[in-house]
Amino acid sequence: ELRNNTIIIVFGASGDLAKKKTFPALFGLYRDGFLPEDVKIVGYARTKMDEAEFYKRATQYIKNPDDDPAISNKIDEFKKISTYVSGGYEDDPSFEVLENRLKGIESTYNSNERNRVFYLALPPSVFIPVAQRVKKYNYATDGVNRIIVEKPFGKDLESSRELLGALKQHWTEDETFRIDHYLGKEMVKNILILRFANIALSSAWDKNSISNVQITFKEPFGTEGRGGYFDEFGIIRDILQNHLLQVLSILTMERPVSFAAEDVRDEKVKVLRSIRPIVPHDTLLGQYVAANGKPGYLDDDTVPPHSTCPTYAATTLWIDNPRWDGVPFILKAGKALNEAKVEVRIQFRDVAKGIFQDISRNELVLRIQPSEAVYLKLNLKTPGLYTRALPTEMDLTYKRRFSDNKIPEAYEALILDALKGDHSNFVRHDELDVAWKIFTPILHWIDGKNGPRPKPLPYPYGSRGPKEIEAFIKKCDYTRSLEGYSWPITNLA
Ligand code: BG6
Repeated sequence: ELRNNTIIIVFGASGDLAKKKTFPALFGLYRDGFLPEDVKIVGYARTKMDEAEFYKRATQYIKNPDDDPAISNKIDEFKKISTYVSGGYEDDPSFEVLENRLKGIESTYNSNERNRVFYLALPPSVFIPVAQRVKKYNYATDGVNRIIVEKPFGKDLESSRELLGALKQHWTEDETFRIDHYLGKEMVKNILILRFANIALSSAWDKNSISNVQITFKEPFGTEGRGGYFDEFGIIRDILQNHLLQVLSILTMERPVSFAAEDVRDEKVKVLRSIRPIVPHDTLLGQYVAANGKPGYLDDDTVPPHSTCPTYAATTLWIDNPRWDGVPFILKAGKALNEAKVEVRIQFRDVAKGIFQDISRNELVLRIQPSEAVYLKLNLKTPGLYTRALPTEMDLTYKRRFSDNKIPEAYEALILDALKGDHSNFVRHDELDVAWKIFTPILHWIDGKNGPRPKPLPYPYGSRGPKEIEAFIKKCDYTRSLEGYSWPITNLA
């Protein structure tokens, strides 16, 4: 399925996303032999720099902690297949220069096939100018062209439609790959198999057995240095509307007819369309303040003074279909919290009272990161001469159970899919549209479009978030386990 005679062109090659994610992922695929034979990589950005400087930047985040000579050699080889072109994003002659460079590379091919993958690691303001010029100047006529783009896809329903509409004038849906990198994460990809290949789980996967679900994203650092970007978007557009909603849709969709991209995405869209738009009543917003020697959000120079931008948000989603009627799905995400963790926590209902007094609920937890794991909290008899229930767990920690398997980086998995032309783990246009429909009312409320802006609740840097979150999740029927239970978080990193 991989096509030879492929060039991957990375726009925004000197930017953060390219340096931290795109190039390391391309290298990872190259190192493990997953890129097409004879692949070439061309970086493109405004920065004027020589190739040496480009190589330095493009490889600076590639990990080689033990200075393994085999990896160093691979990095040298990787440099040899990569080159750099500097040019403007809205300047036609620059795209002609790029075209000449691409033709030069292709002149060595021994067939007429030419495939080009354009990766736009760019700020949204230049998305369309670049997409349009690439189509005009750099579109290969004898082969396959693909364009990879990444959020932000607008700021609300209207702006997203505008952006997508503009992109569609130049690129077909089939050629377009919209990244949500959470769809490339191993544990997110695992959800479909876990749900539909296990009857023990699939038969308990509805409102009759499940009380509430939480999808949680926690990061232990603030917006340091990225405040300017972040303030314009806020945590809901940064994390909830895309990453967490994607996880939710896979978790709640009906069984697809097949694993083919359109079958899966049809089901995702269907469940998303059953979600009610979010209301303020179901939302809690927070913003971190200075604590323990760490600065508050407003102390960041790149953040406008008095900003009310949320750096923490929790919101409850309701799915109006027979499977999920009445089950609260809580999405919560925050920066500058006490730990780094992304997990899905499915809490089951109480067993009937009678023989038990106080008994913990079953919970199925999918730990997306760090240290991938699936564990099920369940009650056992306390071993020994008692007949007392004890909350414990069945623990499937990947590093222990699959110690020989390498888990790919999300961007590695996704770039490989795009090279193969597989859309399963990319966001379809109608999926994005309905995602914005769910979130636009609450975003407009936060942006002060129909009244004063809501004031976020303060929480200390490094804490678990606003203290009000406890009552918020309790309202959604989340019930803490009995005193004393905690999952043994073994440090396997
Ligand atoms: C990005 C957000 O999409 O995802 C960042 O813009 C966030 O703010 C990042 O830090 C988190 O990704 P990961 O893979 O580290 O969980």
